[in-house]
Amino acid sequence: MSDVLLSVKNLVVQFGKRRRPFTAVNDVSFDIYKGETFGLVGESGSGKTTIGRAVIRVTPTSGGVIEYNGQKINGKIDKNLDKDITRKIQMIFQDPMASLNERAKVDYIVSEGIYRSTDRETRKKLVDKALMDVGLLPEFSSRFPHEFSGGQRQRIGIARALIMQPEFIIADEPISALDVSIRAQVLNLLSELQKKRGLTYLFISHDLSVMRFICDRIAVIHKGKIVELAETEKLFKHPLHPYTRALLSAVPMPDPVSEKNKVLTVYDPSVHHYEKDKPVWTEIEEGHFVYGNNAEIRKYEEELEK
Ligand SMILES: Nc1ncnc2c1ncn2[C@@H]1O[C@H](COP(=O)(O)OP(=O)(O)OP(=O)(O)O)[C@@H](O)[C@H]1O
Ligand SMILES: [Mg+2]
Repeated sequence: MSDVLLSVKNLVVQFGKRRRPFTAVNDVSFDIYKGETFGLVGESGSGKTTIGRAVIRVTPTSGGVIEYNGQKINGKIDKNLDKDITRKIQMIFQDPMASLNERAKVDYIVSEGIYRSTDRETRKKLVDKALMDVGLLPEFSSRFPHEFSGGQRQRIGIARALIMQPEFIIADEPISALDVSIRAQVLNLLSELQKKRGLTYLFISHDLSVMRFICDRIAVIHKGKIVELAETEKLFKHPLHPYTRALLSAVPMPDPVSEKNKVLTVYDPSVHHYEKDKPVWTEIEEGHFVYGNNAEIRKYEEELEK
């Protein structure tokens, strides 16, 4: 049995007025194992970033529990634990231009998280090392972000996370803003770093074809609710929830003939009849979870037996 590093239980995140709140994350549960890459996929506005921000304690949670190494890390927590978590869990973002401070030089950007706790000399050494770890030259440290290409800026963002010696990295659409030609380079860098340092990733994306390449397991989220979760190949082979199927139908296939004749499936939530028969989060086969009511689960079970 693998060790659970991050455990999210019945997480709820709401925004807006207390009387009429908007529920961005609605009763979401999943575990992430040490050393794995866990994918979170779903359309724009489904709550992916909000989950990431709740884990790094930037967005307050409205319900549920988030545990890291068995310790509760949401809501009010001990100061030392807060400090510990702030270092151990790092996040990298989609748009490297917007997420880096344009007026600061690279050495400051990369060392911001250790600025108070180190002297100048140590800091310089650590910055040089972090830059080299991501394939950049130490000389770059005296330049400004606008002097770099998108791919290089994303490497700076990764260096900034790495310098903290994190255990767990939340990568929020880390390659979506990059040219196709450099996406693979950044993905390869992330996967090398993972191997070398035993890192655990939460990888957020709306692109299932990228996820297939990089994730061990994938959770599919729709409107703040996780509708399906499984090992990557299981999910691609036996997608059960209609939303997962719709997402998969948009993934390009290597066969040009079937590609041309392909019909894109559109997800229609009115296929669910949840008025009386209420949906529950169900483990339908080992490690494969789906959100559905009794009637749907029975149907899914039959499909799996085929
Ligand atoms: N600070 C906030 N205040 C109010 N509403 C918010 C806030 N942050 C997010 N939301 C809302 O919560 C929902 C989920 O947003 P979130 O950014 O998590 O989506 P996402 O899945 O990351 O989307 P994308 O793929 O576009 O990045 C959206 O409807 C968004 O408008
Ligand atoms: Mg987002």
